[in-house]
Amino acid sequence: MLLRADDAGVFRLVAGCVCFPSSWSLAEKMGHPLEFIHGVVPELNAQLGRSIHAFLCKLVPGEAWRRSNWGLSRSPELNQHPRRRLRKLDDTVTFDEVWLRIEHQVLVRLPETGGVLFGIRLENHPLEVVRRAGELSRRFRLALETMSDAIAEYKGVAGARARLLDLLS
Ligand code: HEM
Repeated sequence: MLLRADDAGVFRLVAGCVCFPSSWSLAEKMGHPLEFIHGVVPELNAQLGRSIHAFLCKLVPGEAWRRSNWGLSRSPELNQHPRRRLRKLDDTVTFDEVWLRIEHQVLVRLPETGGVLFGIRLENHPLEVVRRAGELSRRFRLALETMSDAIAEYKGVAGARARLLDLLS
């Protein structure tokens, strides 16, 4: 994805190709400011909006910054565009149906135009990988247990939280 600061200095999404979205639609985000794009993520703009903007302003060409997001889904499909209406996690989910999606993201400032490139590479793991992960597994369960209801809803795990904790215990 390519972002560019508009005349008011607001970063907007101006181009992109996302082959494997995690339950969001590129078309709905195109042309919009980052604050709008993140609008559906509970608490994010209030807590991080200004820092994200400052971070993007300070990016310099020649550096690449990495970050990652994680999510759970009920399908190993890489492309989870909302129009595909894939099955959601709920309290009937079985161990083999649950997949951990890790998005490796990279942010790069382009030297000539000043645009910001945002790349996503997806990794998909069966839940077994989490169960076997020792200390990481404990921390993963803690994250699931303690996230707010709003975040759990956004991440699609609200109706499956107890079940997932059970499967991982
Ligand atoms: C350092 C900068 C950034 C931070 C800290 C950040 C953080 C986040 C977080 C925490 C989420 C929620 C993920 C989850 O819990 O599943 C998210 C979602 C998202 N972010 Fe960012 N983000 C950053 C930059 C960007 C940029 C540059 C774009 C470019 C368009 C972007 C596009 C998105 C999209 C499309 C979503 C999914 C929104 C939806 O579900 O509709 N983010 N981001």
